[in-house]
Amino acid sequence: MKKFPAFRPKLSDKSISNINQEIKELSISGNFGMAIKEAEENYSILHNNYFSVLCSSGTTALHLACLGLGINQNSIVIVPASTNMATFFAPMYCGAKVIPCDVNKDNGLIDLKCLEKICLEQPVDLVIPVHLYGHVIDINNLLTLKEKYNFKVIEDCAEAHFASYENDEKFVGSYFDAGCFSFYANKIISCGEGGIVLFKNKINANKAKSFKNLSFGSNNEISKFFHKEIGYNYRLSNLQAALLNYPIENRNKILGIRAKIENLYSSLFKNREYIEEIPSQLSSYRVNWVYCIKIKEKFFKKFSSKKELLFEIEKKGVEARDYFYPADKQDFLINYSKQKNYNFSECSQALEFYERSIYLPVYEDLNKDDISEIVNIIDSVIL
Ligand SMILES: Cc1ncc(COP(=O)(O)O)c(C=O)c1O
Repeated sequence: MKKFPAFRPKLSDKSISNINQEIKELSISGNFGMAIKEAEENYSILHNNYFSVLCSSGTTALHLACLGLGINQNSIVIVPASTNMATFFAPMYCGAKVIPCDVNKDNGLIDLKCLEKICLEQPVDLVIPVHLYGHVIDINNLLTLKEKYNFKVIEDCAEAHFASYENDEKFVGSYFDAGCFSFYANKIISCGEGGIVLFKNKINANKAKSFKNLSFGSNNEISKFFHKEIGYNYRLSNLQAALLNYPIENRNKILGIRAKIENLYSSLFKNREYIEEIPSQLSSYRVNWVYCIKIKEKFFKKFSSKKELLFEIEKKGVEARDYFYPADKQDFLINYSKQKNYNFSECSQALEFYERSIYLPVYEDLNKDDISEIVNIIDSVIL
């Protein structure tokens, strides 16, 4: 039986020769080496000349973004309820009050009406919208709210490399104060583990750079080993950075293959009576990270739970995945808010978005026959 994992990273011969070159040169740490410099420069050039800080993961990128923007225990931070919980953890590492915001029930993106309601109840310091599953948030209206309520914005672009809002070659991550990306093995641009944060402002970027590297003393300090504040080791090794530059250069080819995979899935699923597909946002030039499907209630009822549905699909060789479980229902956030003595409202649309929804594999090596086979397997489980 052929197996279809949820994702499969692709390493080109060029990436392997790049890594071998760095090994020969002994550039193996996270403190020096051309690959780090090149990846940071490439990302800056492609993102409106924002100032970039390469780091060890998407999670550490989010944490560094919060630190660079000065988020602390007095800050109020808003995060959409449907996301990888790393988006919540990062401002929580800073001790902030983190409030979940409801999302659009069809596409899981932050619901700006709910955001405005929260802003009317209290001053908000930071919003971290997520370009979920490659879909792009309503950037123009968020810019309007940002002006009106005077909050900072960090875009979480972990799942949306090189997506844009309008077809203007301006990519997500460069519309607001900062943007964060993950380079984990399942991401569109990947080096196994890694991340990058882009800042609009150089001072914020320099702060994050210092936090990333243990907050060593500057040249003005009595010693390099005099630390004014608690630092972190969030460095990415130069070896891993060496895997980034080839996919960054070849991003259009990668995005093209992913778009083709999505079109194939969509044409095969088109007439399936059990599918409620996620509508793509008309205004956005989104990218294809995974292929999302929502199962109609009538067909979903056959299974005792989503776990059972996923298990049945996996038994036939396809690793389908669950959506992110809404944050407002999670113990870590409920307990944290109790400790910090604040409340938040239920996110009922996030639950609606979550229910009966799963996603299917998208990776560069999937061919037409593979996709037909995956769709046939889903048919055989659901029908
Ligand atoms: C939306 C989102 N944010 C943050 C992260 C965290 O990235 P990492 O796994 O590289 O720490 C992910 C990762 O998968 C993600 O999907």
